[in-house]
Amino acid sequence: MIKFLFVALIAAALVSATEVAPQPRNDASTCALCTFFVTSVESYLQTNTTVLQMEALLNKICFALPDAVQPQCLMMVAQLPELVKYIESQYTPAAVCKMVKLCDDNNAPVPKPASNDAQTCALCTFGVDSVEQYLSQNSTQQEIVTRLTYVCQLAPQVARPSCDYFVQQIPAVVKYIEAEYPAKKVCQLMRLCDANGRPFKLSLASLKF
Ligand SMILES: *[C@@H]1O[C@H](CO)[C@@H](O)[C@H](O)[C@H]1NC(C)=O
Ligand SMILES: *[C@@H]1O[C@H](CO)[C@@H](O)[C@H](O)[C@H]1NC(C)=O
Repeated sequence: MIKFLFVALIAAALVSATEVAPQPRNDASTCALCTFFVTSVESYLQTNTTVLQMEALLNKICFALPDAVQPQCLMMVAQLPELVKYIESQYTPAAVCKMVKLCDDNNAPVPKPASNDAQTCALCTFGVDSVEQYLSQNSTQQEIVTRLTYVCQLAPQVARPSCDYFVQQIPAVVKYIEAEYPAKKVCQLMRLCDANGRPFKLSLASLKF
């Protein structure tokens, strides 16, 4: 309970701080985070995870993420009740992220209804973006694998196979990033998103690298 209050206080402080702070420096990052976050909330809700349980899981995820995305992630945890309300009103993650102004029209819509595939593409896009951020804070490949393995353990059940698969592919992801491929392209190459940046209709079992 004390821990929860502490987290709530931090979150409240972050919310008031962001009221005056400029919007985050990287729209694509912010949108990838929001889409992953809201898609995860949607999946947690489908398995009847309570808001309190989600808060605990998502806070842990936030603290494992690259430094640059942590404030935005914690701010989204603080907005969880509002996000849940939008999802329960049948808004898609893409629509929710637009409403909270973390995505704009340049981002490909995630089709409705929320599916395993939507989760996979959101996860990949966010994963590539996170690897980029870890690299720019000079994390080693091993550190990145350790942190993201932990994130996968906390992710909704439905996302875990693709999350674990993504982590296994981190050496390849790092090479793509070093070759300056955008996240969308990397996820297409990994067949985790289709050519429009939308979910790729393919079972993970059929993927071979
Ligand atoms: C979630 O709760 C609903 C309503 O109580 C129930 O019908 C459904 O089976 C539950 N789903 C899971 C995955 O536990
Ligand atoms: C990462 O390493 C580079 C090269 O050693 C250095 O210039 C840069 O300041 C480092 N960045 C961080 C965030 O530590």
